[in-house]
Amino acid sequence: MKLLLWAIVVAIFTCLIACKQQPYQMGERLYKTHCANCHMDSGEGLAALIPPLAGSDYLVNHRGELACLIRYGLNDTIVVNGKTFSGEMLGNDKLSEIQITNVLNYICQSWGNKGVPFQFEEVKASLEGCKR
Ligand code: HEC
Repeated sequence: MKLLLWAIVVAIFTCLIACKQQPYQMGERLYKTHCANCHMDSGEGLAALIPPLAGSDYLVNHRGELACLIRYGLNDTIVVNGKTFSGEMLGNDKLSEIQITNVLNYICQSWGNKGVPFQFEEVKASLEGCKR
């Protein structure tokens, strides 16, 4: 009986650690490490320099380009929610396809965003088709 109780306690602790590795949390961690210093924890961006991700129409209108943008960066003039931005974002060539999928799902489903979830296969196919 005692052994069973211990087994349950161990199982709960294992889950507390392992269950944190859910895709959304992985995406959140990646976002905090690689993106939040520019786009901010709240996804609001920074004035005229960094475009917002929270409520961004760009995420919806350019869905197919987002994986490439994250991997290879963007140095263009873009319009996000009616405002023009012409800064430069560097690429993240160390992020794997699965990490890009998780970070995309994090930004498309945070701060009130309600994007259609990205599948790994979709991101992989986008990355294979990136124009450089
Ligand atoms: C050094 C600052 C910086 C970092 C770090 C950064 N970005 Fe950006 N991001 C920018 C800038 C500046 C633009 C606009 C680029 C342009 O105008 O060509 C941009 C544009 C974007 C856009 C498209 C516009 C929009 O607001 O919807 C997305 C999506 C995006 N970034 C996501 C990310 C993600 C995800 C990460 C982390 C993996 C990240 N960025 C890291 C500066 C940054």
